[in-house]
Amino acid sequence: MEDEILRLKAEAEAALSAISQAGELEPFRVKYLGRKGEFTLIMRQLGKASAEDRPRLGKLANEIKQVLEDAFTARESELKAGQARAGAVISEDLSLPGRFTPFGKLHPVTQVMEEVCSIFEGLGFAVAEGPDVEVDFYNFEALNIPKHHPARAMHDTFYISESLLLRTHTSPMQARVMEKQEPPLRMIAPGKVYRCDSDITHTPMFHQIEGFLVDRNVSFADLKGVLSIVIAKLFAPDTAIRFRPSFFPFTEPSAEVDIACVICGGSGCRVCKQTGWLEILGAGLIDPEVFKKVGYDPEQYSGFAFGLGIERIAMLKYGITDIRLYYENDLRFLSQF
Ligand code: PHE
Repeated sequence: MEDEILRLKAEAEAALSAISQAGELEPFRVKYLGRKGEFTLIMRQLGKASAEDRPRLGKLANEIKQVLEDAFTARESELKAGQARAGAVISEDLSLPGRFTPFGKLHPVTQVMEEVCSIFEGLGFAVAEGPDVEVDFYNFEALNIPKHHPARAMHDTFYISESLLLRTHTSPMQARVMEKQEPPLRMIAPGKVYRCDSDITHTPMFHQIEGFLVDRNVSFADLKGVLSIVIAKLFAPDTAIRFRPSFFPFTEPSAEVDIACVICGGSGCRVCKQTGWLEILGAGLIDPEVFKKVGYDPEQYSGFAFGLGIERIAMLKYGITDIRLYYENDLRFLSQF
């Protein structure tokens, strides 16, 4: 029986060293080390050995089985490591060109929005945000635009119901903020606005930044001073600006502000329609009627307000000629900024 055990050991060792692929491991284990394997059979036969040989043979068989099990485990990890190495070599073809990872960028409108906001923040303006779905009161009534006032016709409003609408400008934020806060205040209100309009210079949704400042003795000169600084930072330091008389029901006096054409420098071109000037915002001194609606005393306080269109500023900054490009999500356009 001892011979039989030693023969089996030699056979198993030879078989183990002949294994060259991981797939051959399991059949080996079943044949020699498994519950019904050769060694188990031998152990069972130990009963037939003489009582004096039995302990020695049992010990020998157990030792050999242990040795084989250790050898098996070692071989197994050797083969698996080899397999991993081989796999790594096959999947990494170092001659292949690297994979291109496209990077996302902020939308040009977002970039300009953030730039304008940070310029105003540098001047001490705080940021307020309000709802896109607005009530008639804040969008019109509080801004001195009563029902049936002709000024409503300028707004091409999307109505949701009789009293609910998509805000047509960020000016409702003037009333919302002033209603809650006492002067002095310096605020900007960036956000989306909506008008039922669509062509190469209009999209039904666009972005504005409202700005307003209320304090004692605020004059038109303060408005001009603030806007000059902002325009110089946003465009070139020496960009010429001019104020043209205009009308808004919520400012008096009102102005539209132009800058010297950024394309031709003022000599006249297609973009500025040969005028040399480009309109970039509406502004004025806050109408006393608006102060009365929010409970401010117009005898004590005065203030200015302005609203600027972000898409328009981005078009001028980057020389974009069709506003609709912003919203077509064409990466060839968007990735240029
Ligand atoms: N709300 C005006 C518009 O959208 C712009 C504006 C804002 C004018 C503040 C004056 C003062 O056209």
